[in-house]
Amino acid sequence: MQKVVVRAPASTANLGPGFDCFALALENPYDKITLEWQKDGEHLSVQVSGVGAQSIPKEVEKNCGGVVAKAFIQRFDLKGGFKILIEKGVPPALGLGSSAATCAGVAFAFNELFGLNLSNEELVELAALGEVASAGTPHADNVSASLLGGFTLVVREEKIKVLRINPPPTLLLCVIVPKIPTPERKTEVARRVLPSSVSLKDMVWQVSHASLVAAGFALGEIQHIASGMKDIVVEKARSALIPGFDLAKEEALKSGALAFTISGAGPSVIALSTKDNAQRVLDSSINGFLKAGVQATGFVTKAGKGCTLLDSKITREE
Ligand code: HSE
Repeated sequence: MQKVVVRAPASTANLGPGFDCFALALENPYDKITLEWQKDGEHLSVQVSGVGAQSIPKEVEKNCGGVVAKAFIQRFDLKGGFKILIEKGVPPALGLGSSAATCAGVAFAFNELFGLNLSNEELVELAALGEVASAGTPHADNVSASLLGGFTLVVREEKIKVLRINPPPTLLLCVIVPKIPTPERKTEVARRVLPSSVSLKDMVWQVSHASLVAAGFALGEIQHIASGMKDIVVEKARSALIPGFDLAKEEALKSGALAFTISGAGPSVIALSTKDNAQRVLDSSINGFLKAGVQATGFVTKAGKGCTLLDSKITREE
């Protein structure tokens, strides 16, 4: 038996105006993905344990990691028996790139175990196929950050293009998770509330602010990143799905948060902060939700690396 064990991090997508394009890998939490391969076996199986495992489908066709595994097996004509063990550390359905962490971890594991030497873009394309199983669309923002780490920017034409930039090391993220019920297939629901077109005026706002975020990462300027994280299209539509959002944002900004927006499809929200103010921003955001009668929890994390190999047992044949 050969195997690899991969650490696959959570991520926060969109960062305000970068809907379906921007994401940032988080240092914590993360999934642990083990891929075992038996040359003489013949089945593909998926096991899920850890945070929220009971709500995650285990059938290969419905599990996002299973979908990615099947895509690798077919694309590269891989033979044998495959067992995928998914130990969830990233809670599902909270807007923290949980399915993407699993998809990215499985893609990374296949690439390592079979020495496929795929490019970043090829890995992202394959990992994004798993997002269809959980979110209904092959959006590649979260999987890019989870695979490659840091800040990632996805451009989709016929083929996908992915850029990654190391975030400023002093950047901190407060992640606040309101305790509200989320519908099944939450991301699909959160995409259905979005407008199908925007005015030219709104487009100019979104493009200019998204550019500021990207330039901020490229220049290592937290203030540019924060000033750019103002989204007048997606946040406006989705904040209605998050009771307490407006109060939480108001309290966070009053306490010195540099920026505040929805994490991916929500319901979690993120606030940017510097080191000396992070706890205050976190507490104030939670208080804002409480004022609206919504319980919330949260944590502070740095931006993180992409998928990494934790362990491996590989023998390559001559
Ligand atoms: N960009 C996606 C969305 C991320 O906002 O719907 C979902 O995790």
